[in-house]
Amino acid sequence: MQVFKEKTPLKAAIRTAKSKEKTIGLVPTMGALHEGHLSLVKQALQACDQVIVSIFVNPTQFDNAEDLEKYPRTLEEDIRLLKEAGSKLWVFAPTANELYGKNISSEQFHFDGLEQVMEGKHRNGHFDGVGTIVKRLFEVITPHKAFFGEKDFQQLQIVRKLIEKTGLPVQIVGCPILREDNGLARSSRNERLNTIEREKASFIYQTLLKAKELFGTKSAEYIHNWVQEQFDSHPILKLEYFEIANTQTLEKINRKRKGNTYRAFIAAYAGDVRLIDNIALNNE
Ligand code: PAJ
Repeated sequence: MQVFKEKTPLKAAIRTAKSKEKTIGLVPTMGALHEGHLSLVKQALQACDQVIVSIFVNPTQFDNAEDLEKYPRTLEEDIRLLKEAGSKLWVFAPTANELYGKNISSEQFHFDGLEQVMEGKHRNGHFDGVGTIVKRLFEVITPHKAFFGEKDFQQLQIVRKLIEKTGLPVQIVGCPILREDNGLARSSRNERLNTIEREKASFIYQTLLKAKELFGTKSAEYIHNWVQEQFDSHPILKLEYFEIANTQTLEKINRKRKGNTYRAFIAAYAGDVRLIDNIALNNE
């Protein structure tokens, strides 16, 4: 398995692969890899001849210096896991300078309102940072397909919008959320939970499942209040937001409309660890 730290040799290798008609797949990550990431890699390996996993903790998408500093960096272990996942993988693990040059800052994007709700509202500038780095990776790697998890559903829809707006010829593939046995969505941040928090955090998914059940018969307002009450009486978890939103526009649901699909989204804190999750409420 080849590990590239610089873009010039990677671009040369990609040119050669493309000249042999190979399809190139990209899985962008920030490392600290877990089964959730690896499920994206597996899907990419099935769909593409050459898969590149990028590992880069992108400073411009963090609105909180402490969160950036605490973000786990485990490159050697990541490389070991990827070696097990498949020999035809390439890893791209650049420095910030290599990707950004001297000016480590975000471009400003308009994603037709997708960036203004939920994660965008609670994490200042987050999606400008994500848009900047994903566009940069697409320009350097020029993949045919790129794989993103539904775990970060808003990010997935924003990347799709980025493609629509820039016209870059990349097919975006959404991949299902991988969960721990108790239902907690896998995340690099789960490592920062203690045993009790990790067990209790499955409550987030249990609440989403119940919200889905209620969605058949109850109003969005009822479900909203119900979820808030569940968290109000929870010993550990603090709810940051619960939203039911249109899958395409991510606008808050007004009232259910036939033919539209909806998802429920939660962000909650266990101690100082911020967790997010979501679920499809009706057939997509
Ligand atoms: P990161 O959090 O490392 O996630 C990389 C990819 O793995 C994302 O597409 C994310 O949705 C997916 N993923 C994470 N946990 C998952 C799970 N439990 N099930 C399925 N997919 C999961 O998302 C980012 O990095 C960054 O914002 C990035 C896109 C790399 C830009 O910096």
